[in-house]
Amino acid sequence: MEKNIDPCIIIIFGATGDLTNRKLLPALYKLEFESLLHKESKIIAFARKSKDNEQFRKESLKAIKNFSKFKVNNEVWKRLSNKIVYHQSEFQDIKGYNKLKNLIKKICSKSSGKCNRIFYLAAPPSFFEVIINNLKKSGLAISEKSWSRVVFEKPFGHDLKSAKKLNKAIKKAFKENEIYRIDHYLGKELVQNLLVLRFANSIFDPIWNKKYIDHVQITVAEDLGVETRGNYYDKSGALKDIIQNHMMQLIVLTAMEPPVSLDADDVREEKVKVLRSIRAFTLKEVSKIAVRGQYGSGTINNKRVKAYREEDKIEKNSNTETFAALKLNIDNWRWLNVPFYLRTGKRLKERVAEINIVFKQNPGILFNEHVKNIEPNMLIVRIQPEEGISLQFSAKIPGKKMIVDNVRMDFCHECKFGPNTPDAYERLLYDVMIGDQTLFTSWDMVEHSWKIVDKISKAWKNGKVTSYNAGSWGPKEADVLIEKDKRKWYKPQKSIYSTLLQNSTTQ
Ligand SMILES: NC(=O)c1ccc[n+]([C@@H]2O[C@H](COP(=O)([O-])OP(=O)(O)OC[C@H]3O[C@@H](n4cnc5c(N)ncnc54)[C@H](OP(=O)(O)O)[C@@H]3O)[C@@H](O)[C@H]2O)c1
Repeated sequence: MEKNIDPCIIIIFGATGDLTNRKLLPALYKLEFESLLHKESKIIAFARKSKDNEQFRKESLKAIKNFSKFKVNNEVWKRLSNKIVYHQSEFQDIKGYNKLKNLIKKICSKSSGKCNRIFYLAAPPSFFEVIINNLKKSGLAISEKSWSRVVFEKPFGHDLKSAKKLNKAIKKAFKENEIYRIDHYLGKELVQNLLVLRFANSIFDPIWNKKYIDHVQITVAEDLGVETRGNYYDKSGALKDIIQNHMMQLIVLTAMEPPVSLDADDVREEKVKVLRSIRAFTLKEVSKIAVRGQYGSGTINNKRVKAYREEDKIEKNSNTETFAALKLNIDNWRWLNVPFYLRTGKRLKERVAEINIVFKQNPGILFNEHVKNIEPNMLIVRIQPEEGISLQFSAKIPGKKMIVDNVRMDFCHECKFGPNTPDAYERLLYDVMIGDQTLFTSWDMVEHSWKIVDKISKAWKNGKVTSYNAGSWGPKEADVLIEKDKRKWYKPQKSIYSTLLQNSTTQ
């Protein structure tokens, strides 16, 4: 990352929360470590509990030690901690914003005259509108001779109607080029690498279309359950929590046309065209293209785990899906009749996020009698846990007989570039500071993905969710969804390097 950063004041709303502790503070620490926070920049931590600067700084250090990948360097921490100020207020209380305004004025008067502001809403979504309205009322949103930007965590609304209402309220206070809607998947290295893979490699570009690609599979699987997020998750479910945002981003990055340039507007324009091309379906057709499930009890990593309905803060008769699978078609020139199969869920067999580009198979005339479980050529983009790209093709097994098997060429991101890859939040915070919106979601994208998700959600309103065993790959219906097209889900495979990496970290 470059180092042409303006000084700014980052105001974190919800600064004592889980997200700030686990993600934002470690990211800010790393940015300070890399000297990517301007020496005049400040961080104002806005939350409800009463505490002084010293107490908040102490808790922040503890969070950074707990959640950062790196050992804390005292010099770096000292520099960061001097930048942090705690501001106690209720989100609803306008007086708190007036005091915040005075605090900001005081900080600015001591700096070189720049009074740039980032308002980071790491707050419960039910407060987004309240905070925005108070920022407007108090005059904090308007900046003279400086810039001001506002960052929203997901979810952006819980359906199209609520997203529109929220967006309308934001637009009264901020312009679109000041609004940063986070989808942290876009900050992940391998997700950013998708455009490079597609458009910087002459070998992939000519075959990235309906002529050579049979279908695309996208899996975002977690082995964890709802953990402490029961309250939120039971009202949301897998469709809204993962498909509406992260998986839609993965589809568009896989399917979009080359943008005119890498500027935010050009990239976003191409992305939204993909969503607009997704084949429309009726409420009745939802059962043919979408499957849902909810985890029952089961075994993961040799440990018994309880059913979703037995988890903390979950309704005993909850009908919320913890698994969703979809088949979508993109009706454009490049992708006509190339289905995109998506699946996501909690308490699945393992934690993995990957995109499989499955190529059409050659006629088997020559090797039909000599194959051993032969699979099609596949390009696999592994987003997590270990990041990399694998190309699967067929090769002869050594020996006197002609037997053909599947082999893989692996690119392991960490082996090549080391473990210092910036965390998604580090990259995204940096981009907000330099004013680059490319890795943030535009309103058009939010609107179109809610349109698709709302339809499925409406069809699922009545009817019962089916159960699947924790530790499996989801309900049987998800297999049927793909098998009726004479295809199958491919089991994620670890690259040959993952064991090497594991060994090197345990040594
Ligand atoms: N946690 C995650 O992994 C995660 C992942 C993706 C997105 N998100 C999103 O990030 C946002 C924050 O989530 P979170 O998990 O960090 O929430 P959280 O742990 O519940 O934290 C909420 C924060 O808001 C503050 N707060 C709540 N009500 C307040 C009020 N009336 N006035 C002032 N402060 C108030 C709390 O302050 P006090 O502690 O002082 O009460 C706390 O700092 C949400 O939009 C969530 O959807 C979170």
